[in-house]
Amino acid sequence: MWRIILLSYLLVCLLACQAEKKYVDDEIDRQLEYQVTIHSPSGDFDHFILPSSSDYSSIPQETANPLTEAKVELGRMLFYETGIGLEPVKSFGKETYSCASCHLPTAGFRPGAAQGIADGGVGYGSNGELRTKFISYEPTDIDAQGIRALSVLNVGFVSNTFWNGQFGSNDINVGTEDRWDEVEGAHVNYTGFKGLEAQNIEGVKAHRMSTNREVMERLGYLEMYNAAFPDFPEESRFTDTTASFALSAYLRTLLADEAPFQKWLKGKKSAMTDQQKRGAVVFFDKANCVSCHSGKAFSAVNFYALGVNDLYQRGGTFGTSAEDIRNLGRGGFTGLSEDMHKFKVPQLYNLGDAPFFFHGSSKFSLEEVVEYFDRGVPENPRVPEEQISSLLRPLYLTPQEKEDLVEFLTNGLRDPNLARYVPDAVLSGNCFPNNDPFSQIDLGCN
Ligand code: HEC
Ligand code: HEC
Repeated sequence: MWRIILLSYLLVCLLACQAEKKYVDDEIDRQLEYQVTIHSPSGDFDHFILPSSSDYSSIPQETANPLTEAKVELGRMLFYETGIGLEPVKSFGKETYSCASCHLPTAGFRPGAAQGIADGGVGYGSNGELRTKFISYEPTDIDAQGIRALSVLNVGFVSNTFWNGQFGSNDINVGTEDRWDEVEGAHVNYTGFKGLEAQNIEGVKAHRMSTNREVMERLGYLEMYNAAFPDFPEESRFTDTTASFALSAYLRTLLADEAPFQKWLKGKKSAMTDQQKRGAVVFFDKANCVSCHSGKAFSAVNFYALGVNDLYQRGGTFGTSAEDIRNLGRGGFTGLSEDMHKFKVPQLYNLGDAPFFFHGSSKFSLEEVVEYFDRGVPENPRVPEEQISSLLRPLYLTPQEKEDLVEFLTNGLRDPNLARYVPDAVLSGNCFPNNDPFSQIDLGCN
């Protein structure tokens, strides 16, 4: 008899506890649904949902460069193609680097090191972290920028590219025409193209690549070019512009739509853990991160000074100094005093894939980033106080809230399958993303 009583007692308890747990689950989903809805201008989840990479009609595009499969396929090769690295400063560098040297898919399409190095770099490590200057290159000769590379993930939603937004004649750059001859690279805006298409014309030159017909024929890309650009006359089919169009088309399809938060938005409530959901609620509500990081990629072409350190301040970096115009952010482009030290709001997906944060790689973990926002105290004494955003202020998050927020950023916003965007091989047959002898060993290419 007592057994039956005990058993039914256990059963009742089990059911009650299940119900209790279910209630908690639903409660956190309801809270998050509420937060997402009130922070969406349209009042629905669409504002935060990334399209899938094959849904071209939902991906922002440049009118002159409509997305086609043939262009995306070509761009997917060129982005990793070390065979077009043909304008190095020293012959050692020939065919050793690619766009992906600084935008590694395994590092969330950012460098695996504090500063990316293409021409003049050697080595790879396991995720780009061991790439360094090749001994026979002068520090001034290597291809490394004075600012941490931005991710190209979800970049289709960036109307004007670079930390200072200088590329593209569109959107926020309407009215900046007087700066296009002044600022390095910005004259490409006279093409009238949007950010990506304009930038990448300069990009292939700046990163010492050759994209002419002879090179493409030798590497085996003629057919892909013909399929991608049938409307371009033969004589203008193999240029920096068509290379840029293909690269830009590919970049527009790099979308983190398989991240748990994305799946949750699309209705799969079990895709996120309770902790990730709690962290997301902190992100939207108490920490108010969404006041700057909004939309499909949690990015914005708005500029703020958070007072973080610049890249030169960490030491051991190349080609930058206290005088680097890049330290001035948007102000370095517009020349306006109100824009000084203000940087573009970057996207937030797959950030945990490389341990360097902010434009000067001054933070090494997402815990440190969250701590920085929670304290709300600028670290860079060179940024005048009146420039600092008033939204940078103490948040008074509890240790648990910080942990939850970090978990949301690290795993809730992590697409685990970015490898779907990477080709198995490039047509040259070269090693990629790097092809110097040290990288070849690290990457297992021999
Ligand atoms: C030497 C490292 C390096 C190489 C090689 C490189 N990049 Fe970058 N990339 C950067 C850096 C650094 C930035 C940010 C520069 C800035 O904002 O001043 C950047 C920014 C970008 C952006 C802007 C993203 C945004 O949100 O504004 C795009 C797009 C991009 N790169 C595409 C490419 C393509 C395409 C190639 C190959 C043609 C390439 N990159 C090669 C370092 C590199
Ligand atoms: C005032 C607007 C603003 C607010 C509020 C804000 N951010 Fe940011 N966030 C930025 C800007 C601008 C940057 C780039 C700063 C820089 O590097 O100079 C940035 C950078 C970041 C980065 C680094 C990204 C990278 O590529 O290195 C992370 C992570 C981040 N923010 C997360 C958060 C979280 C979490 C919150 C809420 C606690 C938050 N942000 C609140 C504007 C903001």
